[in-house]
Formats: sequence, C-alpha cells, structure tokens
Amino acid sequence: MGKIKIIGTGLSGLVGSRLVELLKDKYEFVDFSLNTGVDILDLAALSKKFAQNKEAIVVLHLAAFTDTTAAWQERGDKNGLCYRLNVLGTKNIADLCRKYHQYLIYVSTDFVFSGQKEGVYTEEDAHAPIEWYGQTKSWAEKEVFNSGLPAAVVRIAFPFRAKFDPKKDAVRKIIEGLENKNLYPMFADQTITPTFIDDIAWGLDYFFENKQRGIYHLVGSTSLSPYQMAKMIAQVFGFNQKLVKRGSLAQYQKSQSKDIRPWHKNLALSNKKAVSLGIKMHSFKKALLKLRQQP
Ligand SMILES: NC(=O)c1ccc[n+]([C@@H]2O[C@H](COP(=O)([O-])OP(=O)(O)OC[C@H]3O[C@@H](n4cnc5c(N)ncnc54)[C@H](OP(=O)(O)O)[C@@H]3O)[C@@H](O)[C@H]2O)c1
Repeated sequence: MGKIKIIGTGLSGLVGSRLVELLKDKYEFVDFSLNTGVDILDLAALSKKFAQNKEAIVVLHLAAFTDTTAAWQERGDKNGLCYRLNVLGTKNIADLCRKYHQYLIYVSTDFVFSGQKEGVYTEEDAHAPIEWYGQTKSWAEKEVFNSGLPAAVVRIAFPFRAKFDPKKDAVRKIIEGLENKNLYPMFADQTITPTFIDDIAWGLDYFFENKQRGIYHLVGSTSLSPYQMAKMIAQVFGFNQKLVKRGSLAQYQKSQSKDIRPWHKNLALSNKKAVSLGIKMHSFKKALLKLRQQP
C-alpha cells in the first residue's frame, strides 16, 4: 500500500520542516509554501493545487505570518500581510477543504490568550489576544470552527528543535548566548511553556491517524520562566550557571517606549487534554536531554 498523502501548508518552516523529517517515511507530504510556488493568498492557484491533490484527505495548515514584532507594526490593518495571511489565507484553506471533504488541522498559538490569568490555561479558556499576531490567529481559529469542517485546532507554544538555520528558536538563542558569554538577562517574572518540536510532530501523527476534532494544547509538560529555562539549559549543556543573569519583564516593559508589542506575563498552558489521548509531551528537561543527543 502506498503512503497516505497529506497536504501541508508552510512545511518549509521551523515546525513543518522537522515534521517532514520525522514522518516522511510514513506519509507523502505535499508542501504548499511560497518556495514550492504556492501562495495561499492566490485563490485561483491554490484551488488548482487542491484539485491536483484531492485524494489527500488530511490538510495540515501551518503557513502563517509568525513575526510578532512585525505584526505589531501592522496592528489594526486588515490590508496588511499579517491579517491577510493569517485570516484570509486560513479562510481560503478552509473553503477548499470543504469543497474536497477534507479534515483540517489548524496550528495555532498560545498568543490567543492575554497572559493575564493567574494559573494554567486550558482549552476551555476564552480568547483574549493582546497583540496583533494573536488577534489574527484568534480570528483564524474562528474561521476554522465557523467553516463547519471536521477540524482540529492544535495550539503550540515556543517550539524548539536541535537545528534549523533559517530561524532561531528560544532555546537555541539561549544556547548561543551561553556559548558567546553574552546572554541577555532572562525574565524571572514571566511564565512560558516551551515545546519540543519532535513531540509536536509525533502528536500531529495522532491527529493524522485519528482525525481527532476539537481544540488541543500540544505543548510541553513544563511551564517555567525564561530564567529557569536558561538555568536548565546551562546545566544540561554544561555551561557555567553564572552566565545566566536574572532579568524582569516588568522592568523591561517600563524601560521601553510605549510603542513596543505588549508581552504576555503568564503563558502556562495545560497539555492534559492532548496527553489523555496517549500523546507523549516531554518535560523541558527530558526534551533538552534528547535535543543534546541530536546532531
Ligand atoms: N514559531 C513559533 O514560536 C510559534 C509559536 C506558536 C504557534 N506557531 C504557529 O505554528 C505555525 C508554524 O510556525 P513556524 O514558526 O514553523 O513558521 P515559519 O518558520 O515562520 O514558517 C512559515 C511558513 O509559512 C509559509 N508561508 C508564508 N507565507 C505564505 C504564503 N503566502 N503562502 C504559502 N505559504 C506561506 C512559509 O513558506 P516559505 O518558507 O516558502 O516562505 C513557511 O513555510 C504557524 O501557524 C504559527 O502561527 C508558531
């Protein structure tokens, strides 16, 4: 039997390209990205591509405008690329999935939340974005649900992997700072939930196989401050702990001009719902130990 074909948008990106590396023996991925000549905003060209691949019954939609700082510069602008790519691009994908009776997995973000909650965010919590990227991703989630499609919204957070030259993630930025002995002070008064991309890939495999519907947080099993992250990275990778300096998000925000993107104070997310399906999401420490072994 041949491999199952999956349409993926944005498979050349940070998350998508690792997914393909890990799962390419199991699935035949068709990548709709700009560098494969497919613009999800060009509905006529996109429709043709869907028609050519209509035997694919699963569509994984990763392509997005992901630069949160650049997104903030476009805030309120519905003609801007961030809005068009994240909201209108997602609508195009959902419309075509409906036409070809496909199951859609939309990859979203912890930034749909405000970060003001005391405690851990679950899938039950309401959207309350505080900046433009999160706002557009929130609207895109609504496009997916309003489409009536069989669909899943899979939220990920601070994804990291061993290697990807085009883009650094939070973990590799810290490792680089430790190597160069110039790590900037790390916030001790912020909580985030870093996620090993290998876990996201194997977690998505579950969705491909089971066509699971609903909202899921496919995030790591440890929520911690960037300061604690850096300490743990220094420990696992054998750097001097003294290279990690304590910083403060509150202080940083006070010192910046009013024009900077609002930052989230607490993005602790629960992955219990995804884990209850049998999906394995490593603790931050275990993920680092695995990452250290990868070339
Ligand atoms: N990275 C994070 O910290 C993070 C956190 C939470 C959620 N997410 C979500 O996870 C998903 C993947 O993120 P990522 O970091 O892997 O993204 P990324 O590295 O920024 O890659 C973006 C992808 O989108 C494609 N793309 C951009 N414009 C396109 C267009 N007009 N038509 C078709 N494809 C287009 C890019 O293709 P080209 O390479 O060809 O330009 C690339 O493959 C996104 O939906 C993002 O919102 C990311």
